[in-house]
Amino acid sequence: MQELGRLEDLPDEYRAALTAQNLVPLWPSLRAVLPPGKPMPRTRPTCWPYQDLRALLLKAGELTPIEKAERRVLVLANPGHGLEKMQASSTIYLGMQLLLPGEWAPAHRHTPNAVRMIVEGEGAYTTVDGEKCTMSRGDLILTPTGLWHEHGHDGDKPVVWLDVLDLPLVYYMEASYVTEGKAQTVTGVAADQSYQRGGVVPAPVFTRAEQPFPMLRYPWVDVRAALQALAASQPAIEAVQVAYVNPETGADCQKILGFSALMLRPGERLALPARSTAMVFHQIEGGADVALEGQQFSLVEADTCCIPGYTPVTLSNRSADQPAFIFIADDAPLQKKLGVYEVRN
Ligand SMILES: [Fe+2]
Repeated sequence: MQELGRLEDLPDEYRAALTAQNLVPLWPSLRAVLPPGKPMPRTRPTCWPYQDLRALLLKAGELTPIEKAERRVLVLANPGHGLEKMQASSTIYLGMQLLLPGEWAPAHRHTPNAVRMIVEGEGAYTTVDGEKCTMSRGDLILTPTGLWHEHGHDGDKPVVWLDVLDLPLVYYMEASYVTEGKAQTVTGVAADQSYQRGGVVPAPVFTRAEQPFPMLRYPWVDVRAALQALAASQPAIEAVQVAYVNPETGADCQKILGFSALMLRPGERLALPARSTAMVFHQIEGGADVALEGQQFSLVEADTCCIPGYTPVTLSNRSADQPAFIFIADDAPLQKKLGVYEVRN
C-alpha cells in the first residue's frame, strides 16, 4: 500500500493557514481512519473480576449515600478508550450498581437504552413503565429508551446488578439526556409469564400487544430452563445459545445492543468466529475460560470481560460435570441495521 504524505512534510506556513480556516488535510490521517483489511479498535480485552470490584462497590455504599449518588455505580471502563470515557467498547457502557436495603433510586427516563443483569441479592425491584419487575440472580430487565424506571429494595442484604447501556453511542450522537420524575404508580407486575412458551403469544379477542417493548423482564429461571431443554432435545447442535428477543416480533429485544445467553456443556470448548462486534461476557453460573490471541481470562461466577470486534474467541467450560452459563452483549443489532456487520471464518 502506497505510503502517504505526512503532516510534517507540509510547510509550517501552509499548515497554519489551513488551521486558521478550520481545514485539515486528509492524506496524513487517511490510513488511520481507513486502515487496510480490518479496523484498529481502541477497545482492549479487559476483565473485571467480581470479587475485587464488589469490595470497592460495598465501600462506595459506606462512603456515598444514595441521595448523593442517585445511581451508586462503579463503571467498568476499558483502558483502551481512556478510563474517563466510561465505556467498555465503542458502543457499550457497563456499570455495576449497588442498592442497599431500604434505599430508593428515584424515577427517571433517558434516551440511552439500558438493561440490567442481576448479579446478587434478593428483595429489590425495578419499576419500568409502571410494571414492577422483581430482581433475582441472572434475570435480565429492560429499560428501553424513554421508559420511566426507578429501583427499590425491600430485602435485607445488598443487591448488585450489571447495567448495560448503549450510552457511548447515544452520547457520541449528542442525543443523550435524562428527565427526572415522580415515583411511578405501579400498574401491574412484569408480563413475563404471558410469554413463557415459545410460538404462542397472548391474543385476547384477536388483538396483539402493540407496545414496542412487550416484555421487560426475562427471568433467569426460564432462560436457564430453555437452554437446558435445547441441550437435551438437540444434542447435536453446535452451540446451546438463545437470544433475548421481542416475543411479539421475534426481533432483537432492543434496537442498538443485542443480548444472548449461552450454555457450555460440561467440558465443552466452543470456538466463536471473528465478528465485527465487540462482545461482553458475564459469567452467570460456573466457570469458563475466554481465550483470544495471546490472552486468556478465567471467569468465575459474576466476572465480566470485554473483547474487541474482529477477534476470534474460544470459550471453554472448566468443569467436567457441570454446565457453565454466560450472558453475552454486543452491538450486532446496530451493526446489522447499518450494514457493517461481518462474520469472518
Ligand atoms: Fe436509568
